[in-house]
Amino acid sequence: MKAFTLPSRLALVPVILAALLAACGEAPESDRPVAEAAPEVAGEQTYRRFCFSCHASGAAGAPRTGNAQAWAPRIAQGMDVMLRHTIDGMPGMPPRGMCTRCDDDELRAAIAYMVERSQSD
Ligand code: HEC
Repeated sequence: MKAFTLPSRLALVPVILAALLAACGEAPESDRPVAEAAPEVAGEQTYRRFCFSCHASGAAGAPRTGNAQAWAPRIAQGMDVMLRHTIDGMPGMPPRGMCTRCDDDELRAAIAYMVERSQSD
């Protein structure tokens, strides 16, 4: 389950650029759509590689992604507290959610990715 999202998205880039070229008849502004999508993609990639194993199923008592009820009290603590707990680890979750090479921003993006999908509307 590794390499499916990013390659398929990247494969779209030339198509999008070609469409932009065809539409306005001049060169599109470099790679802007890719740059704007980057933080979301980074969070998703980290999530899929490192957090998914527990947070998709609720393994080890992890709050399941998409379960607004399980996430509400955690979201209420605020991002900084959730980030600190992720960095330090919690019962059932190893430090940095097992992504030892992730920096704090990558962890934050992965948390944001899960939180975004776990909010009640
Ligand atoms: C080995 C399983 C496991 C993995 C992998 C894992 N988690 Fe967790 N996570 C847990 C468990 C279990 C809890 C609940 C801990 C508790 O409440 O005692 C948790 C809780 C959390 C919380 C809530 C923290 C809070 O303050 O309530 C966040 C945020 C979180 N994980 C983020 C992540 C991120 C980001 C990753 C990937 C980089 C990740 N987790 C990977 C098991 C895991």
